[in-house]
Order: sequence, then structure tokens, then C-alpha cells
Amino acid sequence: MTTSTVAWDTYSKQRPERRPVNAAGETTWFNWTQYPDHGPGAEVLGVQQGHRVLDLGCGKGGNLAHLATLGARAVGVDVSPAQLQAARERWSGAGLSLHRRDALEFLTAETGEDFDAVYSVFGAMWFTDPVRLLPAVRARLRTGGVLAFSQRPPVKGCYGCQASYINRGDDEDPLVVRRWDYELDDWHGLLAGFGFRDVRTKILPAPPGPRTIGTILVRAVA
Ligand SMILES: C[S@@+](CC[C@H](N)C(=O)[O-])C[C@H]1O[C@@H](n2cnc3c(N)ncnc32)[C@H](O)[C@@H]1O
Repeated sequence: MTTSTVAWDTYSKQRPERRPVNAAGETTWFNWTQYPDHGPGAEVLGVQQGHRVLDLGCGKGGNLAHLATLGARAVGVDVSPAQLQAARERWSGAGLSLHRRDALEFLTAETGEDFDAVYSVFGAMWFTDPVRLLPAVRARLRTGGVLAFSQRPPVKGCYGCQASYINRGDDEDPLVVRRWDYELDDWHGLLAGFGFRDVRTKILPAPPGPRTIGTILVRAVA
């Protein structure tokens, strides 16, 4: 197993499963943010019946399962066997197509099909150099297809490749994965530079309460 796989398997064991129902009583839903019952939903992607959608870093598959209930052909890719195992167990009847693969490798595979939407929620889009990932996504989106992704905003002054730490036991060093942080204007420039159009970027504010860190949401069209 690679360091990254071990790190994300470790992360997986620390993360609780998605709740059985959300505050609205729904059994599936789409959440772009780090907060429950907060922010926009699947409408950001404009997914229709029969659309092929790809989740980069799908984790335990909750968002993907929701898109499947809307009639999408839902494909997920993730490097973590533990995350994918959890997705397979929780959403066994949802018809998800799940692949244990690095996102960039999956996108650049020669046999790849095109997608109507590609998205990533605190996923591989955040943990891969966008200079490498964005052209690969662009190449696999049909013309008019949508790319959308969310992640935490950068710490002011800390841009480009940053370290994320995944804690282990008290006697072990944390595991480290790399993430890429940018301000909204930089995301705009990166996406436009790789041929995306209608680029929209925003920060969704945190919900009322003690937490203050919002969520970057980026949407662009191929
Ligand atoms: C913070 S979790 C988010 C999971 C999920 N999107 C969610 O919203 O719950 C990040 C996920 O991205 C996956 N991941 C990180 N880097 C990846 C890469 N290069 N290729 C594929 N998956 C990756 C991890 O294994 C993990 O499941």
C-alpha cells in the first residue's frame, strides 16, 4: 500500500458513517460542506436522468448514492480500500460503480468514457496538483459538462501545496497528505487557463454558531 492509501485508510476509520436520515428526513442527500444540513445540494451539478457523473475521492459514497437516486450513472474513484468498503456496504443496492484508483490515473486511462459531470467534495481535487488534474478532468468532460468541487478555504498567505496531517496513536507520528490551497481568483485563473468557461467561485459561509470557517465552492463548464 502507498503512504497515501495508508493515510486515507487511517482517516476512514476515524470518520463516522453518514447519518441514516438528514434533518429533512431524507435517506440520501448531497452535501458540499463540512457542516450537516448546510449549503446547496445536487442542483449545482445539473444532473439529469441517465447522466454519467464521476466523484473524485468519493469516500464512503453518500453524495454519489444520492445522485444515483436521481437517475445518474454514478461512478466513484478513491484510493482508500477502507473508504470504498464502507461505500459498498452502506450503498450496496444503489448501483454505484466504484473504482480503487488514483483520480489522475483513472482520468488518464486510455479506455475512459466521457462524463456529464465531474465533482469532488473535500476529495481528490483538493489532494492533487490542479495543474495536473484540471486538464485531465477537462479531457473527460463532454462539451457543456460541469466540474464542481468544494474544500476548505486557504489560510491567508498559505497557497499552493500544503501539508494535511492525519493523526494516529499518541506514540506514532501523524501521517501526511498534500493538498493544494488557493484563493478564489487563483481558482478562476487556473480553470480559465485550462479551457473551462463560465467559472463561478464563492465561499459558502459557515452556519450560524461557534464555527467560522466557510467552504470554497467552485463550478465551471467544459
Ligand atoms: C476528506 S475525504 C472526503 C470524502 C468524500 N468526498 C466526502 O465528502 O465524505 C477525501 C477522500 O479523497 C480520497 N482521495 C485523496 N486523494 C485521492 C486521489 N489522488 N485519488 C483518489 N482518491 C483520493 C481519500 O481516500 C478520501 O476518501
